[in-house]
Amino acid sequence: AKYTEPYRPQYHFSPAKYWTNDPAGLVYHDGTYHLYFQYNAGGIEWGNMSWGHATSPDLTHWDEQPMALLARGFPGNLTEMFFTGSAVADVNNTGGFGSDGKVPLVALYTSYYPTAQTLPSGKVVRKEQQSQSIAYSLDEGMTWTTHDSANPIIQDPPTPYEKQFSNFRDPFVFRHEESQKWVLVTALAEIHKLLIWTSDNLRDWTVASEFGPVNAVGGVWECPNLFPLAVDNSPAKSKWVLVIGLNPGGPPGTVGSGTQYLIGEFNGTTFVPDDDSVYPGNKTANWMDYGPDYYAAASYNGLPAEQRVQIGWMNNWQYGAKIPTSPWRGAMASPRRLSLKTIGQKTVLLQQPHENLKTIRSERAKHYSWDSLPAGSKDLGSAGKQLDLELSFADDRTSKATQFGIMVQTTSDLTQQTRIGYDFHARQMFVDRRKSGNTTFDDTFASEYRAPLAPGQDGRVHLRILVDWSSLEVFGGDGESTLTAQIFPDLSATHAGLFSSGGSTEDITLDVWEMSSIWK
Ligand code: FRU
Repeated sequence: AKYTEPYRPQYHFSPAKYWTNDPAGLVYHDGTYHLYFQYNAGGIEWGNMSWGHATSPDLTHWDEQPMALLARGFPGNLTEMFFTGSAVADVNNTGGFGSDGKVPLVALYTSYYPTAQTLPSGKVVRKEQQSQSIAYSLDEGMTWTTHDSANPIIQDPPTPYEKQFSNFRDPFVFRHEESQKWVLVTALAEIHKLLIWTSDNLRDWTVASEFGPVNAVGGVWECPNLFPLAVDNSPAKSKWVLVIGLNPGGPPGTVGSGTQYLIGEFNGTTFVPDDDSVYPGNKTANWMDYGPDYYAAASYNGLPAEQRVQIGWMNNWQYGAKIPTSPWRGAMASPRRLSLKTIGQKTVLLQQPHENLKTIRSERAKHYSWDSLPAGSKDLGSAGKQLDLELSFADDRTSKATQFGIMVQTTSDLTQQTRIGYDFHARQMFVDRRKSGNTTFDDTFASEYRAPLAPGQDGRVHLRILVDWSSLEVFGGDGESTLTAQIFPDLSATHAGLFSSGGSTEDITLDVWEMSSIWK
């Protein structure tokens, strides 16, 4: 359906109505990308957690589907909520859920039991317990059956972590071909530990190792993901990436939730981070995104290794329930392609918008170039609210400017403006949303965010910026730094303009594409 509400993302996924948080169960099967998501079946704040569902042929156009898992007892008498999890296509039917030759999609998710109860499986669970359960689908992910005769299949955390039974969640499952096993990663959220499990049949799991705490531990650890990526596009050489959500305790300068990752080796049972991926004293971390609004990042199962794609929830637990949107709350960030590149001695994670996003760009870009722009600002007129921008300029360390960048979704009098720029001295990119529009719903919202960014080999700074009605995603350089932030500007804030502060900026090129809406 066509969406016309104020702030409604026009090319990012959001549900027609009600609350969403984490993407979950991301699986590609038979030509369809499935996006399940944490969903309140009856409200615009967190609650009644169910699995919503959307499908896409190309990771760009989405169709919202009927709910996949509805909170048990909804409405009014909840006995089980369906928290975050993951899904695989069990093509060899190792779990035995397939029938009539149909490939089962199998989801592992966290069961949250609000009340103590005896389950159909005969298992007795405690009030507010979190356990891991199975559901499967025999109709291409459209309807799901919970495996009630056995659920939960992992009831309690193992010794010596039994006390963590109400902070035990977010199973991420994947196939490890080398060992011919299924691997599952779960979080012991409060104590900053992950458990790694293995299985032959998706039902019976054995603890293989544990990981953590390392690096950022400012809040609970949630939503782990673990996957291999080729280094420098060489299939012969790959490393593993471990992604961990943190709430609160996100990147410096943000308040609330954020996402960190580690790069290392995984042998089917144990993850060992590279020395240069770990920082002693839990002082810092590798930040997946330096902005305030990128959380619970999850990646697709079912794609070839070189096509790893990740989707994050474009919101923050600090103010998630207060953002001024209606009748929905929460949207997903653009699907990102991940890769690893060696820069100097270090393996660095790169993120790029999925290439299919280019299919909804206007046919031709508005192309601009300037040899030099003097200190001040330059109005580019009304550019709209759905944009894909590529901006580049020189940084040879002789710049007289202190900052250069672009303002988007500004009103013509500039009273509302969001600044995306580069600080020549600090070599950082930044997003400044202090005057971005409605910022008053939360005290911490009106703020500026920074990420490290060096010019490329060509001596130029490159920024790719995705602008939608209520969001920005900035990809710096080759994608070694990203910065995602929500904004809530007025309807009339459609202008764009450049700014150079403290002096002139040289050799600027700018391409501006309008993006078409994915909602028809
Ligand atoms: C992360 C999270 C997960 C949990 C889900 C509940 O945002 O807290 O740990 O499974 O949300 O909705």
